[in-house]
Order: sequence, then structure tokens, then C-alpha cells
Amino acid sequence: MEEAIGKETFKKIWDQALFFRPGSKEPIGMMEVEGVPFPTPFINMKTLDAMKTWEARPDDVFVVSYPKSGTTWTQEVVSAICYKGDLDEVNKSHSNFRIPFMEAPMISSDELKIPPTHEIIGKMKSPRTIKSHLPGHLLPPDIMKKKSRIVYVARNPKDVAVSYFYFHNMNPSIFKSYPTWDEFLQDFNNGKVYSGTWWEHYLYFWNIRHESNVLFLKFEDMKRDLRGVVQKTADFLGYKLSSDVIDKITDHCTFENMKSNPMTNPDTLFKHVAAVIAASGENMSPPGHAGPPHGDKQFDASKDSFMRKGKVGDWRNHFTVAQNQAMDALIEDKLKGTGLKF
Ligand code: A3P
Repeated sequence: MEEAIGKETFKKIWDQALFFRPGSKEPIGMMEVEGVPFPTPFINMKTLDAMKTWEARPDDVFVVSYPKSGTTWTQEVVSAICYKGDLDEVNKSHSNFRIPFMEAPMISSDELKIPPTHEIIGKMKSPRTIKSHLPGHLLPPDIMKKKSRIVYVARNPKDVAVSYFYFHNMNPSIFKSYPTWDEFLQDFNNGKVYSGTWWEHYLYFWNIRHESNVLFLKFEDMKRDLRGVVQKTADFLGYKLSSDVIDKITDHCTFENMKSNPMTNPDTLFKHVAAVIAASGENMSPPGHAGPPHGDKQFDASKDSFMRKGKVGDWRNHFTVAQNQAMDALIEDKLKGTGLKF
């Protein structure tokens, strides 16, 4: 790539909607790697292999999470801190370009001669901020060796399940669609979804939370005291920011402000991609696709939104009494004795 590597590169890729175009010859479906399901070709084996030797840097900052746990929110907190609260600069580029998604390669990358994301990141100047949903054991081991910073965010798995259910049905080009909530909940609690079981993902990072390069956050704490979490994250990342700047970042990261800001709301990109696909008239339903044809089901801006509710406890509107009892028993079984609570 000839231009300076960085935000502009990712913008260009998204402008052409390459992320979601199944031009690749790889089948769309799920593959299991070391017990963890991944959607292909969105995530591919070459990328996961490359993680084993990917070089981290001591000044890298990673935002790591199980999907739907508050990644985008935490990304924005981290990014605004790393820009020292200069929101004019922050708002010049979309969050997804400021914090690229490490393991999500560019679909069709081989044909279009676009390197996968981790290679682009490899050429970026420091300091880098990077997002990953990889479970701990599949993350590049060099991250812990170099002591790059990891900001991990976890959320009550009941709310994650609800958020993930809607997200699956909003993204049929990547995920299987679920006709019923109950079917999704079963797959979720059996670890049959992208990123595997929530408890293994959480506990890997919970168990290393006392390492000096790891900060373990909870969605519920961010909801209760966002300012406190912004301050704690700035301290962890080594940024001495004035009280006014902490206030400014906190305000920038409220649900309402992130939803109404096109540079922080992922819908901006989803809408753009849907429009590009619609305009191209391409057949977007390759054979072997796990879900329904997505030419007409791709992100529908009239009803879908990534920034859905942003609440604690929406699970109450979805779980039946029996589902809730089963989930409580599972949470008790998996988290007993760990000290991790929601
Ligand atoms: P809901 O679907 O429950 O609304 P992720 O970024 O990990 O995919 O998580 C997405 C979830 O975080 C969505 O949850 C989304 O609404 C919520 N979210 C994103 N930004 C938020 C913010 N500023 N405040 C509260 N929730 C936020």
C-alpha cells in the first residue's frame, strides 16, 4: 500500500465496503480452532496462525473483550484518552479506523491485494490502539512478553446474550441468523458462537487482572460511574489529564452522545456498507452460507442499530423464568470461587 499506513488505510477499505463482501473463495460458515468457533471468512486460519508470531510493542494498547460486552464503548474511552481529550482530532475519523480490529482480515484481501488487518497494523507508527475479541490463549503471546497494555471489558453474560442475539440477526453476512431467542441462548451457553464460551474468555483475563499491564473493567461499573472508569483507565495508561479533560471524555462517551456521533456509532459504517452493496447489485448470497440470503437482509438502517439500548438488565425483558434459573445455575457453576461477579 502506497499511502501512509494508518486510519486512512482503514477508511479506504471501509469506503469500498470490503469488510463485508464475500468475494472470497473461502466458504462462509464457522470453523473451530482450539475449541473456539470463528465465522469464516471474516476470521480466517491464516490470520489466527499469524497471531502466534505477531510482534507487539510495549506502548501498544489493546482493548480486548468477548463480543457485545462493551468493546466499542471501551474503545472510545481508550481512544479519547490516547488523544488526550482532543475531541476535534478524535472526531476526524471513525472509531473503527482509530482502533483497528486485529484479527478481522479484509475479506477478499488476496484478490484485491489488500493485506490483512494485522499486517497493516504491523506497519503503523506507535503508539497503536488495537481491538481484539480473541480469547487469551489465541492472542499473540508477544503481548504479554512485551507487557503491552490490555484493557479488558466484561459484562453480565445475560445482557451479553441478549445483545449478541440481536447482533447475529443484524449481520447475516457474517453470522448465522436465529429464528428464536431460545435457540440462540442454547448455542451461546454451549459456546457454539463466535469467541466460544463467555466464561473461558472472561476468566483468562480475570485470572491475570493483577498483572501490571492488565486492567479489567466491567460494563456495569462504566454504567454506574463512567467518569470514575475514565479516570481509572487514564491512570492505568499513564495519561495525566486535567479534571476538565476527564469530564469532556466522559461526556463524549455517554450512550446518547456516542449514538448521535457518526464517528463513534458503528451504524455509520454498517449503513454505508449496506448502501454500497445495494448499489452494486451483486449477488450477496453465496452457496454454503450458514444463514439466510443477505442481499436483502444486510443491515437494515430503518430497524437495526449497533447502539441498541446500552442498558444494564435488558435481559429481564427476554429471559423466561426457566431460562433465568438455568443461566443462574451456569453462572454459579462457572464463576464459583473465582471472585468474579456481575
Ligand atoms: P446493547 O445491545 O445491549 O444495547 P460491543 O461493542 O462489545 O459489541 O457491545 C455492544 C453493546 O454495548 C451494545 O449493547 C451497545 O448498545 C452497548 N454500548 C455501546 N456504547 C455504549 C455506551 N456509550 N454506553 C452504554 N452502552 C454502550
